[in-house]
Amino acid sequence: MTPSRDLPLAEAFRISLAAPDDFDGWRDAARRMICADVSPDRVTWESPADQSADLFSRGNGRLPSPLVDAPQPRASRDFLQLAQSVILHSDTERFSLLYRTLWRLQSLPRLMEDKADSDVRRMEDFARQVRRDIHKMRAFVRFRILESGTGEHYVAWFEPEHHILRANAGFFTRRFTAMRWSILTPRGTLHWDGEALQEGPPATRADAPSGDPVEALWRGYFASIFNPARLKVGAMLKEMPRKYWKNMPEAALIPDLIAGAQAREAQMVKAGEQSFGERPPNLDAIGAAIQACRRCEIGCNGTRAVMGEGPVAGPLMIVGEQPGDTEEAQGRPFVGPAGQLLRTHLETAGIADNQAYVTNAVKHFKFVAQGKRRLHQTPTAREIDMCRWWLESERMLVQPRLVLALGASAARSLLGKTVSVQKVRGQPHVLDDGSELWITTHPSYLLRLPEQSRAAEEVKFANDLRTVATRLSEL
Ligand code: URA
Repeated sequence: MTPSRDLPLAEAFRISLAAPDDFDGWRDAARRMICADVSPDRVTWESPADQSADLFSRGNGRLPSPLVDAPQPRASRDFLQLAQSVILHSDTERFSLLYRTLWRLQSLPRLMEDKADSDVRRMEDFARQVRRDIHKMRAFVRFRILESGTGEHYVAWFEPEHHILRANAGFFTRRFTAMRWSILTPRGTLHWDGEALQEGPPATRADAPSGDPVEALWRGYFASIFNPARLKVGAMLKEMPRKYWKNMPEAALIPDLIAGAQAREAQMVKAGEQSFGERPPNLDAIGAAIQACRRCEIGCNGTRAVMGEGPVAGPLMIVGEQPGDTEEAQGRPFVGPAGQLLRTHLETAGIADNQAYVTNAVKHFKFVAQGKRRLHQTPTAREIDMCRWWLESERMLVQPRLVLALGASAARSLLGKTVSVQKVRGQPHVLDDGSELWITTHPSYLLRLPEQSRAAEEVKFANDLRTVATRLSEL
């Protein structure tokens, strides 16, 4: 005798899932029902966000017992993969769509290959819409700064169409690891304190701040990267649909920028240049603008940008690669171990602190996390080239007569091409504004060398700095 014979003929089941994206709960319940031979029309599904509209829905919330001789349920890998996206859709029918498809798969193992099947098509549509929502959230979440007693807290308001908040949590914790942030949505909230993630209840728009200094930076940044020659209104609206504009400070600029685009393009063509907008008027403005720069991946990693420092209009500019772990933490260039070595050698060469403005080719710290440690990663040529806009803007304001590039990344930024440091060191290179560029190795390179070869390389480094000191006294 099998338990199914004990069931009333059409016993119904109502399954309450723990959360609207509770895939594991759905899968466990679905397996139990397949094993008990419960047809899809006998099941009602609900979750806290999808209360059954049918007040008289049948079922008492219990799960059926499996048939004694029930075979293992079959679910192809492509079904399971798709189902994990489908379950995030906001359509209340998604659970029953999934269960019906799973039920049918038991007798039609190749069902998922039938792209004309209406259930398969619907699953694929749902998954596509969910993927798009995930992407939009990653692209359009905009944090506002809240000052609290314990420092800066970044808060963003976003309205996802589907239940994607938890699915996107890993992305935001990886990208904004160093910040304390909250993402508030009508479907739930996420809170990251730099170490642990917590989930919270749904929020309303009124819970989120609406405007702060970062908004001005976003607007400034957006205006500066807006390239009228590249404007395609249709493509822009497709990528950034109007419904997201209300939470994006920079979107307020779009109508005016579009209106002015043709005139600006004509000006650019006349001037024969590619414009990223107005150069910031002073070093403070660059310092503020780089904080909001998201032109490349590094700018999006949640670290703080590090601005150059030193005398304005000093005779020498020293350019490193990028801030390191200590520099990012302190917000100042060359304050870690490489900086200490550099400063010792500058002093020995007779170059005083008040002669040198010190900065980097890349303004954000590129790293890979290894436990609690952040390991330096070399920026790509593309990332260096993207960031050149800021270094050039600094150079135009500081107007050094001499520039010293430390290592290959700095050399690339200043020359616009990759060179071998060992080949080009020890000789001057003339930059476009007539200033003189000298190239040497990076102090971090010296620190990484084994003991035996380090001494010889350090002598060469010291010689290069002495040459620069001599040139400074001659110019
Ligand atoms: N290395 C650099 O290139 N720059 C810094 O600011 C620190 C280390």
